Amino acid sequence: MSMNSEATSMRDLLCGSIDSSMIGERVTVCGWVAKRREHGEHLAFLDVRDRSGIVQAVVDGSVDVRGEYVVRVSGTVQRRPEGTLNDRLATGEVELTECTVETLASAEPPPFQLDERVDIDEQVRLRYRFLDLRREKMQHNLRLRAKVNATLRRAMDAQGFCEVETPLLWAPTPEGAREFVVPSRLHPGEFYVLPQSPQIAKQLLMVGGFDRYYQIARCLRDEDLRADRQFEFTQLDLEASFVTQDDILAFVSAAVLDAAEAATGVRPGTIDSMTWAQALDLYGTDKPDLRFAMVLQDLSAAFATTEVKAFAAPVVKALRVPGGATLSRSRLDQLTEQAKSLGAKGLAWFRVTTEGLDSPLARYLNEDEARVISTTDGAEVGDLILCVADEHETACKVLGALRVTLGAAPVGEGDHHYVWVTEFPMFEGIDEDGNLQAAHHPFTMPHPDDLDLIETDPLKVRSQAYDLVLNGWELGSGSVRIHRADIQSRIFKALGISSEEAENRFGFLLGAFKYGAPPHAGFAFGIDRLVAIFAGEENIREVIAYPKTQSGTDLMTGAPKEITQRQVNDLRLKITAKGS
Ligand code: AMO
Repeated sequence: MSMNSEATSMRDLLCGSIDSSMIGERVTVCGWVAKRREHGEHLAFLDVRDRSGIVQAVVDGSVDVRGEYVVRVSGTVQRRPEGTLNDRLATGEVELTECTVETLASAEPPPFQLDERVDIDEQVRLRYRFLDLRREKMQHNLRLRAKVNATLRRAMDAQGFCEVETPLLWAPTPEGAREFVVPSRLHPGEFYVLPQSPQIAKQLLMVGGFDRYYQIARCLRDEDLRADRQFEFTQLDLEASFVTQDDILAFVSAAVLDAAEAATGVRPGTIDSMTWAQALDLYGTDKPDLRFAMVLQDLSAAFATTEVKAFAAPVVKALRVPGGATLSRSRLDQLTEQAKSLGAKGLAWFRVTTEGLDSPLARYLNEDEARVISTTDGAEVGDLILCVADEHETACKVLGALRVTLGAAPVGEGDHHYVWVTEFPMFEGIDEDGNLQAAHHPFTMPHPDDLDLIETDPLKVRSQAYDLVLNGWELGSGSVRIHRADIQSRIFKALGISSEEAENRFGFLLGAFKYGAPPHAGFAFGIDRLVAIFAGEENIREVIAYPKTQSGTDLMTGAPKEITQRQVNDLRLKITAKGS
């Protein structure tokens, strides 16, 4: 008898592990009936499925089991008769014969086919997620996730990080997203907040002397859901003391590369980095997708004194679309609309043809301008050149978006291209009240060379904040933190946060810093996003056991739901509106 670590008191091994080396052995497996096929009156074939795969059992046709019944089957491993081998099954050379079948549980017919080759409406999958999880794809994705988690833990452990669990019932954190609040029964009218991330808790751990902390942390944010966003998600969160940005980049790179190797079998090369300004200039975004080239070109010099009105702007950026000359007029109109919706005044397009440039604007260009456009980025006949003339940031962002529209494959496809983006701006812009907005969070340390600009030219201040990007998705962010009270108060002042407000919102952190805060820095990346890309999935729902729908509901449990009047009373709540 071949025993293995999968053996239990009820079974010897997994269905998918049976092979021709076991011919003649008597084995017992447990699982679900994936399929039943009759063969004459007295013989039936059962496909028995467990998490490892399927094995075929030849049984007496009078055995009363149907699809998705839970069974325990004992049988003798035999080679399948000539002509009946199934090369689509890992166990396709063998079958179990002389079987005894014990029904462990009967089952209603499932509401959808669990066979992998059928496309099923996602609403139905989520309503019956427990059945969906039996399918090979979900088994694979969640096991991949578990493997990534285990690898990340090992990597952090090996680098001397200590895992600490931080509270879920917490106070507001300064990270910008709307928070989920939890009413307190013992303190009526007061609320806990579910953490957007362990940001403050981990900084306090640094004060507490845990100089290398990490956590596989559940985070909660009440924000609009998208393919890469859920209310609840998981971060690999880390923070370390007595470090610089380079140390953090090295810690995170080691963990991510280990995870990539465990998940894909291939260890990616070292992760390159570029500054935020370079990313904007070359790719028009802070999340550059490096799976394809189409680097933005700067034609400003050639148009500095242009007579063409459409090009009279501080900056002229161009994008070469290889083979794009075949795009139809209506497609070009769509792209123009996209450009306008992103803030451009218009989009100039030029088809490179053997007769020169084909474009409504072509006749307005002088010879030099026409030559510059037709040779943009080594253009060839058959290419399309798109140009946007505007302020630098607008021109870059618009073409960056068109670059992705025209060039990017779905996020999970193709190779994996990681890149660090560093030196993010400290401030993002100015809000309605005229206050600067923090680009990362208010504890981010400015770049040491830019400290003098905080009061004089704040939008030019670079920060020591950095992102890790994979195939155009932001995987994670982090920063060197401010540990000095003088710099912190200058930043609060720039952000229009009064000392009372700072005291009120972050008093416990600022107070703690008075007792000796080491220089520290950290990072967090989204495990859901990382695993989705490893699994080749477009939506993080596919790597989460029980995700919410786009509208934030759980179709299986029905959440969110009303609570009982008793709970309402206990919490001293007053419900003023219901449902939607
Ligand atoms: P940030 O807010 O950038 O930084 O989040 C870090 C990473 O978490 C993931 N993420 C999400 N994943 C799924 N659904 C969401 N709604 C969601 N929101 C964020 C992303 C993102 O890059 N405390 C800081 C980190 C630090 O400075 O140390 C933070 O949370 O992959």
